[in-house]
Amino acid sequence: MTTLLITGCNGLLGQKIAKIAHRDYKVLGIDLYESAFDSNIQYQQLDITVKEAVSRLIQDASPDWVINTASVTNVDRCEAEKELAWQVNVKGAENVTLACQKIGSKMIHISSDYVFDGKNGPYSEEDATNPLSWYGKTKLEGEEITLSCSPENIVLRTMVLYGYEPTVRPNFVTWVINSLQAGKAIRVVADQWGNPTCADNLAEALLKLCASGGAGLFHFAGGEFLSRWEMATEIAQKFDLSTELITPITTSELSQSAPRPRHSGLKTEKIEKLLGIKPLSFQEGLNRLAKQIIASQELL
Ligand SMILES: NC(=O)c1ccc[n+]([C@@H]2O[C@H](COP(=O)([O-])OP(=O)(O)OC[C@H]3O[C@@H](n4cnc5c(N)ncnc54)[C@H](OP(=O)(O)O)[C@@H]3O)[C@@H](O)[C@H]2O)c1
Repeated sequence: MTTLLITGCNGLLGQKIAKIAHRDYKVLGIDLYESAFDSNIQYQQLDITVKEAVSRLIQDASPDWVINTASVTNVDRCEAEKELAWQVNVKGAENVTLACQKIGSKMIHISSDYVFDGKNGPYSEEDATNPLSWYGKTKLEGEEITLSCSPENIVLRTMVLYGYEPTVRPNFVTWVINSLQAGKAIRVVADQWGNPTCADNLAEALLKLCASGGAGLFHFAGGEFLSRWEMATEIAQKFDLSTELITPITTSELSQSAPRPRHSGLKTEKIEKLLGIKPLSFQEGLNRLAKQIIASQELL
């Protein structure tokens, strides 16, 4: 049986990969938490910045594949805590890829559209990078280290991940649902564009990528380009919530510490061609998420 190690397995993407993979793979997971949120996987509490521990684990487990989702993902936190972001997003990625290189495990490193400046997206894999934020800089550095370590390694960039898991932190979509359900008014930027990505759909693509023989740089994101305000409006309509609670604003009104790429978006033709897939549209992704919320409420 193929062995898959997922770093950051308690995060949104990590949990989604674990959920699908455990049927066909022997799945090991690591994260900072005491225990795994998915009881179907073998788990070890491990910080990817601890080089010797990462090396030992990968040597002992000898995984066929490692998917590195572990990251400091809060963009404003990365701006405020630059050293932490560098240690996890760059040195952590380096620790994982060097350990993989030593024993011949293949690695997929997850990166972000924040490696681009957002002046003229959507972007293809060939487009020039120019990160605006510290988070973007650390993600780009992690990419370069991963790709330089082995020609078989993969870097996959994605953007605006959304999905439902009872144990996961709110993402943009679940934040909009929770706020509107509570009758809370929200302000949402109407001048940041991109293609929101269903995390379940990305997890499926990642496992197909492992089996594909592909290598190098790929983009995977949702099938539709929307502004954040358009996303929020579609979410409200899908879940029968009030669109009147949503006020469109500009990015400058938010005063976020880290600059955001405004006209972003990722083109996905390369991965579509390799895997014979079409990423889900936003409506299709929201349909999946709605079913998952209903199923989890039925379990209560
Ligand atoms: N979310 C998005 O919209 C988005 C967009 C583009 C790209 N990405 C990339 O996609 C990947 C997965 O994102 P996600 O949304 O699933 O992230 P997430 O929910 O924040 O999950 C990341 C997991 O990694 C853990 N972690 C952090 N530092 C670690 C360390 N030193 N050692 C081991 N584990 C550590 C986190 O723990 P804590 O909970 O304690 O932090 C968390 O459980 C990341 O690489 C991210 O950069 C995400």
